[in-house]
Amino acid sequence: MELQETLLSRRSVRKFSSKEVEKNKVIRAIELADLSPSAHNSRPWRFDVIYNKDLKTKIAEVHDGKLDKKLIKGVNFPNKLRVKLIMLLAKRVIKNAPVIIVVWNTCPLLNLLKDYDKSNIKYQFIHDMEIESVSNAIYSIHLALHSMGIGSVWMGIPVLKESEIKDILKSKDQLVSILAVGYPLYKSREKKIRDKNLFVNIY
Ligand SMILES: Cc1cc2nc3c(=O)[nH]c(=O)nc-3n(C[C@H](O)[C@H](O)[C@H](O)COP(=O)(O)O)c2cc1C
Repeated sequence: MELQETLLSRRSVRKFSSKEVEKNKVIRAIELADLSPSAHNSRPWRFDVIYNKDLKTKIAEVHDGKLDKKLIKGVNFPNKLRVKLIMLLAKRVIKNAPVIIVVWNTCPLLNLLKDYDKSNIKYQFIHDMEIESVSNAIYSIHLALHSMGIGSVWMGIPVLKESEIKDILKSKDQLVSILAVGYPLYKSREKKIRDKNLFVNIY
C-alpha cells in the first residue's frame, strides 16, 4: 500500500477474525517502528508480543472496570462510568485479539536524572519527550500492520492497571499502551478529513 492510501484507509480495529496473524509480519512492523524518530534518538520503546492465550487472558482479566483508589486519589475523572466501560471493552478486545503488543517506555532519559521530583518541570519535559517518542513507534506499528492488511487498536486504558500488568510480565518499565492486533472482521469506513480551517492556520 502506498503511504497516502495507508493513511487514508487506516482505522482502529477492535473486532478480529480468527485468522492467525503471521509472526514475521508482526515482527517486521515492530522492526520498522524501531526506525521512528525519538528524542535524542533514545529509542525508548520496548515491546512484549503476546500470542500465548493464557498470558493474554491473564492480562485481559485485570481490566475489571475498577478504578484503583490510590491511582485516582485527587484526580477527578470526568466520567467514571465511561472509563469503566472503556476498560471492560479493552478486556474483551484483548481476550479476542489473536495477538497483543504491550508497549513500554524504558525511560532512558529520565534515568539520567538522579532522584527526580515528578513535579519538576525538567521531569515533565523529559517524560513528555519519552512518551511522544514511544507514541511515534506505536503509530508506526499501527500503520505498518495496516499496510499489510492487519488491523489493530491502540489502547491507553491499560495504564490504569499498570501495576498488575507489570507484575504479570515482570517488567520494570513504564506501561504506555497495549495494541490489540488481528485481521479485521470487516472493512471499516474511511474517515473524512475535516475542513482544514478548523485545525490549520496558514501565515
Ligand atoms: C493515546 C490513545 C489512546 C487510546 N486508547 C484507547 C482505549 O483505551 N481503548 C480503545 O478502544 N481505543 C483507544 N484508542 C483509539 C481511539 O479511540 C481511536 O483512535 C479514535 O476513536 C479514532 O478512531 P480511528 O482510530 O478509527 O480513526 C486510543 C487512541 C490513542 C491515540
